[in-house]
Amino acid sequence: MRIGILTGGGDCPGLNAVIRALVRPGIADGHEFVGFRRGWAGVLADDAFELGYESTVGILTRGGTILGASRTNPYADGADGTALVAATLARRGIDVLVPIGGDDTLGVGLRLHDDGVRVVGVPKTIDNDLGGTDVTFGFQTAVQIVSDAIDRLHTTAESHDRVMVVEVMGRQAGWIAAHAGIAGGADAILVPERPFDMDELARHLRRRHARGRSFSIVVVAEGAKPTGGSAGGETVTRDASRDAFGNARLGGIGVMLERELESRTGYETRATILGHVQRGGSPVAYDRVLATRFGVEALRAAVGGRSGVMVALDGTETVQVPLADALGSRRLLDPGLYETAELFFG
Ligand code: F6P
Repeated sequence: MRIGILTGGGDCPGLNAVIRALVRPGIADGHEFVGFRRGWAGVLADDAFELGYESTVGILTRGGTILGASRTNPYADGADGTALVAATLARRGIDVLVPIGGDDTLGVGLRLHDDGVRVVGVPKTIDNDLGGTDVTFGFQTAVQIVSDAIDRLHTTAESHDRVMVVEVMGRQAGWIAAHAGIAGGADAILVPERPFDMDELARHLRRRHARGRSFSIVVVAEGAKPTGGSAGGETVTRDASRDAFGNARLGGIGVMLERELESRTGYETRATILGHVQRGGSPVAYDRVLATRFGVEALRAAVGGRSGVMVALDGTETVQVPLADALGSRRLLDPGLYETAELFFG
C-alpha cells in the first residue's frame, strides 16, 4: 500500500514521532510512504518525497516537523479542492492519505473522505481542544514550558513586588492556562470558556495584597475575553487579518491586562507573552509516547482499509473514531478542573 502523509496547521512537538511511527513499522511490512511538504500546499503543488528508514532516523526527539507545515486550504476561494488533491494522489499512486492536524486540516480530510478519497486523520494541537480524543500530543510539552516559565516569573515577581501577567496559547479552550496555572501556583487564571470582569480581577488582586501577599501571577489564555467596556466580549487580536480557514491572529490580551491592572490597582505590572516558545523544541516523554501510539494506530487504520476515521486516546486505549464526530464537538475545559485551580487563587 502507498500511504501519503502531511502535517497541517500550526506545528506541534511530537509530529515527527507520529511520522516515524507510521513509516518504520510500515516499511517493515512492505508499505511505501510519500511525505508532502508544507501541509495541503505540498499536495496542491505535488511537492513530496519518498519517506523511508533514512529520512526517519533520529527524528523521535526533534520538535517541529520534517515535512514542514502551512495553513493552506485546498477549498479556499471556491476551488475544487477534492479534484486537485485527487489528481496528485492518482499521479503518485497513493491509496490512502494521513493528514496530521487540527480541526482545519482534519476538516479538509473529512471533506475529501466524503468525496471518496481515503483518509485517516491524526489529531494534533497543543491547545488540547479537539473533540473525540481525551488528549492531543504536544499539549504536555506546552504545559511543561509554561509551568517552567511561571516558576521563573515567580522569583522575579517576588523580588519586585509585581503582578506578572503570563499570556499563553489557547484560542478557544483554556487547557494550557489551567494546567500550567495549577502546576505553577497561579493566583488567577483567565480562560476563553469564562469571560472575566476586569474590575473584579483588580479587586481580587487588591484583596490578595491586603492579606499580605506582595506579588501575584496571572495566567491568561490568548482567547480569554473581558466582559463589558468598549471591547467587551471580544477576543484581543493582533490585526484584522485572517488565515485561509478564517482564523483571526490572536494576541495582546496580556499587554492589555498589564495596562488595565496597573491603572486599577497601582501595583507595578509586567506582561510576558510566551507565544511560539510553547510550540518549539523537543517533545516531553509523554508526548513522544502518545504520538508514537497515534502513528501506530493510524498505520493500523490505513492498512486495515479504514477511511473517515481519526485515531484518538480513550482513557488509556488508542482507538479510531469517526472524523465527523470528532470535528463536531470542541473539547472545552473541564469546569471541575477550573474549580480546583480556583481553590488556590487566594
Ligand atoms: O492552534 C494552535 C495554535 O498554537 C493556537 O494556540 C494559536 O492561536 C495559533 O496556533 C497560532 O498560530 P500561528 O502559528 O499561525 O501564529
